[in-house]
Amino acid sequence: MKPSSLFFVLFFFAVAAASSSSSSRPQCKAWLAQSIPTDMPLLPRVPGVLSTGEVLRWLAGNATKRLDIIAQYWQLLAQPENPKSGDYGFSAEEMERFGAGEGRAVYKSLEDAADRKVDLRILQHSGVAPDFDQESADLALGRPNVQNVTLLLGDWWGSGIVHAKVWISDGKDMYIGSANNDWKSLTQVKEVGVYLVGCPKIAKQLEIYFNNLWTLSFLNSTDYTKKVWDKQWQAKRKVPCWSHFIHEKDRCRSPLPSTIVIDHVDGYPALSDPSMFHIPFETPGSNLSSTSHYSSYLSFAPPELSFRKFQADEQGWVETIKSVRFGGTVRISTMDWLGQSQYLTQTVYWSSLSSAISEVIFSKRATVNILVAYWAHFIENTDQYLKSLLYSNVLCQSSKYNHCQGKVNIKYYKVPGFEKTGAAKSKNNATGNLYPSYTRVNHGKYAVSDVRAHIGTSNLIWDYFYTTAGVSFGTYHPAIVAQLQEIFDADWNSPYAAPVESLISSE
Ligand SMILES: *[C@@H]1O[C@H](CO)[C@@H](O)[C@H](O)[C@H]1NC(C)=O
Ligand SMILES: *[C@@H]1O[C@H](CO)[C@@H](O)[C@H](O)[C@H]1NC(C)=O
Ligand SMILES: *[C@@H]1O[C@H](CO)[C@@H](O)[C@H](O)[C@H]1NC(C)=O
Ligand SMILES: *[C@@H]1O[C@H](CO)[C@@H](O)[C@H](O)[C@H]1NC(C)=O
Ligand SMILES: *[C@@H]1O[C@H](CO)[C@@H](O)[C@H](O)[C@H]1NC(C)=O
Repeated sequence: MKPSSLFFVLFFFAVAAASSSSSSRPQCKAWLAQSIPTDMPLLPRVPGVLSTGEVLRWLAGNATKRLDIIAQYWQLLAQPENPKSGDYGFSAEEMERFGAGEGRAVYKSLEDAADRKVDLRILQHSGVAPDFDQESADLALGRPNVQNVTLLLGDWWGSGIVHAKVWISDGKDMYIGSANNDWKSLTQVKEVGVYLVGCPKIAKQLEIYFNNLWTLSFLNSTDYTKKVWDKQWQAKRKVPCWSHFIHEKDRCRSPLPSTIVIDHVDGYPALSDPSMFHIPFETPGSNLSSTSHYSSYLSFAPPELSFRKFQADEQGWVETIKSVRFGGTVRISTMDWLGQSQYLTQTVYWSSLSSAISEVIFSKRATVNILVAYWAHFIENTDQYLKSLLYSNVLCQSSKYNHCQGKVNIKYYKVPGFEKTGAAKSKNNATGNLYPSYTRVNHGKYAVSDVRAHIGTSNLIWDYFYTTAGVSFGTYHPAIVAQLQEIFDADWNSPYAAPVESLISSE
């Protein structure tokens, strides 16, 4: 090497080192993050997985310029004194035992970031009782660097909410996962998410989605929506006027930059080449290190908010199921499971995920293990849909000419104490409840095959894919795949999971 080129290399190295405060080689890093409810002594812990509470505190704590948050609602501060709260009537000691301090610490980290003049943008749904968006309003009060915006997706899609749970710090660090901005999501509800650090390329795309939601909140939905006959889902419903559920010649020009444009289609077909990140990342939470480049992706719901070649969230789920190798295993963990819509006026039948599962158990001889939450707010017709899926095992074996050796197995996940949740007092009487309301549930939403991991924010019901805001991160990185499998197996093999009884005796 000539001295001049050596000088250039050294100079370049020095510039690169100076531009990165912590290391000379800026590198994207990924960890899995979990919340594990208190009082689950029989659940083995997976080493190297971070806790959601610490991840959220770090995102706020490390923010120097800006912090963007998508939240359904705010309940970081517990309210045992408020008769309207599901925390009502529990003593201060009980609240500490439940882990309420963790929520307080996350809220404090947000206040501190706001006081450091970090530009905080909060995009939220209208919140929940008892005090709805009071916490974000409190953060915004008297701080011009904090913006709080409520976006009602019902105005745009007829129903639906902002349900994504996303934090983006300084355009490079992120949380994407199932945890709400709720103290209970840190220590009383089981959650799974991913923490990405130093990944500006991924953050930049996530911010486009954030900005799309932000833009909608400032537009008059009356001017930008249409009621149409949706041929794909056989329902009359309201959609944004640029939706592919509207006939091509009747569509408007999208006010969002670079939304997906696909000619000659009704609805949103799967993309043949969805956008992938080919960014190498480290996985410090795992011993399985790898320096190769494995693809990763983001997927978004509803599809009208997807852009460029980014896939819709449903495609992300379906293709994770279908990524399973011949004879391999898919693991799916979810709070809800319904093969239909829940909130639409017309009830829509939705078999996208169950079809994908049946397809791989038939032709690929795959095993599919599904963990569904059973809790105080269990949706009553879940059981019928699960049994319908279990019937695939019967169909698989229904002819001696079938070469079908796959199997679907389903278990209900019961966090102990779920039947004893609710306020501790009603008026002045003790209720006998052992935990606050909306606790003691597996709320994680993810799928992992033997090659690909998909971590989402959406419940597995039609509405979450077509009218509700949701985001997923997926990757083929073997360390994340293996660790997510470990998280699933810890739950699946624990005494808290019990098989769904099949109506049919297939064996
Ligand atoms: C890594 O390996 C060591 C030694 O086997 C073990 O103690 C540790 O728990 C492992 N860490 C992770 C994150 O798996
Ligand atoms: C910043 O994040 C790192 C982990 O990514 C964490 O160790 C550190 O404590 C965080 N700093 C603050 C001030 O929160
Ligand atoms: C935002 O915060 C301000 C200041 O507290 C409050 O007056 C306003 O109602 C909040 N807006 C929303 C949409 O929550
Ligand atoms: C939205 O637009 C409609 C029709 O163009 C109009 O009647 C309505 O007042 C507008 N709403 C707002 C909040 O500007
Ligand atoms: C409290 O319990 C008593 C006895 O069960 C009942 O008579 C009374 O109506 C209850 N009070 C309230 C406010 O629920």
